[in-house]
Amino acid sequence: MSTSTFRTAVVRAPGEPDSIEIIDVPVVEPGPGEVRVEIAAAPVNPVDLGVAGGFFHALGLINQPEHTGLGWDFAGTVVATGPGVDLPVGTRVAGLVVGFDRDFGTYAEQLVASASDLAVVPDGLDLIAASTVPLNGLAAAQIVDLLGDPRADGNRLLVTGAAGAVGGYVVSLGQERGWEVTGLARAADEEFVRGLGADFTTHAEPGWDAVADGAALQERGLALVRDGGAFVGVRPNAAPAAERRITVATVVAHPDGPRLGDLLDRTASGELPARVHAVVSLDQVADAHRTVAKGGVRGRYVLTP
Ligand SMILES: NC(=O)c1ccc[n+]([C@@H]2O[C@H](COP(=O)([O-])OP(=O)(O)OC[C@H]3O[C@@H](n4cnc5c(N)ncnc54)[C@H](OP(=O)(O)O)[C@@H]3O)[C@@H](O)[C@H]2O)c1
Repeated sequence: MSTSTFRTAVVRAPGEPDSIEIIDVPVVEPGPGEVRVEIAAAPVNPVDLGVAGGFFHALGLINQPEHTGLGWDFAGTVVATGPGVDLPVGTRVAGLVVGFDRDFGTYAEQLVASASDLAVVPDGLDLIAASTVPLNGLAAAQIVDLLGDPRADGNRLLVTGAAGAVGGYVVSLGQERGWEVTGLARAADEEFVRGLGADFTTHAEPGWDAVADGAALQERGLALVRDGGAFVGVRPNAAPAAERRITVATVVAHPDGPRLGDLLDRTASGELPARVHAVVSLDQVADAHRTVAKGGVRGRYVLTP
C-alpha cells in the first residue's frame, strides 16, 4: 500500500462474482468527528452478494456514476483522527456503514467513518471475530426492538433462519426480552439452536404470536403468524403486505456505537456466539462470494485486506 492510495473492492458493472474489481483509490483524511481506520477484517454478508450481483441496482437503489463499494461491517485500528474525536490512534474498533448507494465499503484496506458510529473492541476479542458482529448483531437487536415486549396474550416467537447470523442473535436477544423462542432451521442446525436455549423445528405450523424472519421467507413467514400477531422482516424494500391484523415491520440496520459496544463485550465474554467460517484475503473475494451464494455456510467468510 502506498501512502496516498489504498486498495478496495468495488463493482462497476454488477454481475457474476468475477465482476468484483480491486482498485486503488486516494486516501481520505478524516473530517470533524471522523476517524480513519486501517481495516483488519470485513465479513461477507448476503447483502454484499445482492450489491455485487446487481439486485439493488435493478431496484433503483444504486446510482453510482463510477463504482459501488462493497461491505457493510468491519473491525480494525484507528490510524488518524479528525477534530473533536477522543478515540486515540491505535484503538481497536468495529463498526457498520450503511446504505446501498455508496462508492466505498468495508472490503478495503481503509475506511473513514464517524467515530460515534464505532465501538471499541474489548481486549480478548480478536478483530476477525469482532468484524462479524456489527451488521447482524445490530440488525438482530433492532429486530427485537421492533418486536417489543411479548404480548400479554402470547409470547411464542418463531425465528426463521435461526442458525443464520441475524437469526442466531435474535434467538438469544429475543429470549432476553422475554419471548419464548423456537428456531426454524435446517436439521443439521439443531444442536446450535438448542445450544442457544431455544426450542427447535425444521417445519413450523402457523399460529405463532410473532415471527422474526431471519430466513427472509417473506409471505411464507407472514403466513406463520396468528391473526393479530407481529411479523418483523429483513427486507425493507419488499415488506409483505399486512393481513389479518398482523403488525408488519422490517428492520433497517443502523449504526449504534454504544449498543455495538455492548454486543462486542458480550461476544468477548462468550455470552453471544462469534461465528467465523473462514478467513480469506481480499483477493479471494470472488471465490468467497461464489461459496456463500450456494447457501449452507455457517459462520461468516471474513476478508482480510
Ligand atoms: N434489513 C437489514 O437491515 C438487514 C440486516 C442484516 C441482514 N439482513 C438480511 O437478513 C437475511 C439474513 O441474513 P444472515 O446474514 O443472517 O444470512 P445467513 O447467515 O445466510 O442466514 C440465513 C439462514 O436462513 C436459513 N434458511 C433459509 N431458508 C430456510 C428455510 N426454508 N428453513 C430453514 N432455514 C432456512 C439459511 O440456511 P441455508 O444456508 O442452509 O440455506 C441460513 O442459515 C438476509 O436476507 C440479509 O440480507 C437484513
